[in-house]
Amino acid sequence: MKFFVDTADVNEIRELSETGLLDGVTTNPSLIMKSGRPILEVTREICEIVDGPVSAEVTAVEFKEMMREADILSEIADNICIKVPLTMDGLKACKALTGSGRKVNVTLCFSANQALLAAKAGATFISPFIGRLDDTGIDGMELIAEIRTIYDNYDFETEILAASIRSVNHVKQAALIGADVATVPPAVLKALVKHPLTDKGLEAFLADWAKTGQKIG
Ligand code: E4P
Repeated sequence: MKFFVDTADVNEIRELSETGLLDGVTTNPSLIMKSGRPILEVTREICEIVDGPVSAEVTAVEFKEMMREADILSEIADNICIKVPLTMDGLKACKALTGSGRKVNVTLCFSANQALLAAKAGATFISPFIGRLDDTGIDGMELIAEIRTIYDNYDFETEILAASIRSVNHVKQAALIGADVATVPPAVLKALVKHPLTDKGLEAFLADWAKTGQKIG
């Protein structure tokens, strides 16, 4: 499973990138707003830090304007992945952009049929939003499972990018189902390494080691 980080905070991205665990980044208009920086400037900086795909979202809702914005975003760097919303215009833009060799992330997916359309439009990634579905009382993880089945039935190459992840359990469940990628908030990504027995065990090993009076090397 690949890990993307879901943020436009360059300090967080730099720190996580140094672990070697980061395969890409996803941003959206809300995350750009939180960063308080101009979209082109902050996205360029993110692309300099991370080699993998960096999703940058168009804000237009009409096909032609989406394509114009996509052209501007594509100029930022080679690893830009254009994010388009799951609307008819977004799917049309997806088809045109992938046809011209660009990576496309189709976002705001809340149903298996939407995911089917995105795959038919040649999306590189489909982003089903788990947490936002959970918020409405619908099990977001079931959507990931349905998309996995449909994509496997037809050998679609579109990668399932589990999005709107809120917990470490979301990451585990998405991995068990076979999502190709999880885009994870920095805090959740850091929490994945944590286990109280790891901390307790390490503490005990270090205490015993100190008693030996030895040093390695
Ligand atoms: C995905 O690409 C989105 O940026 C993101 O996962 C949305 O998550 P949220 O529901 O926590 O805003």
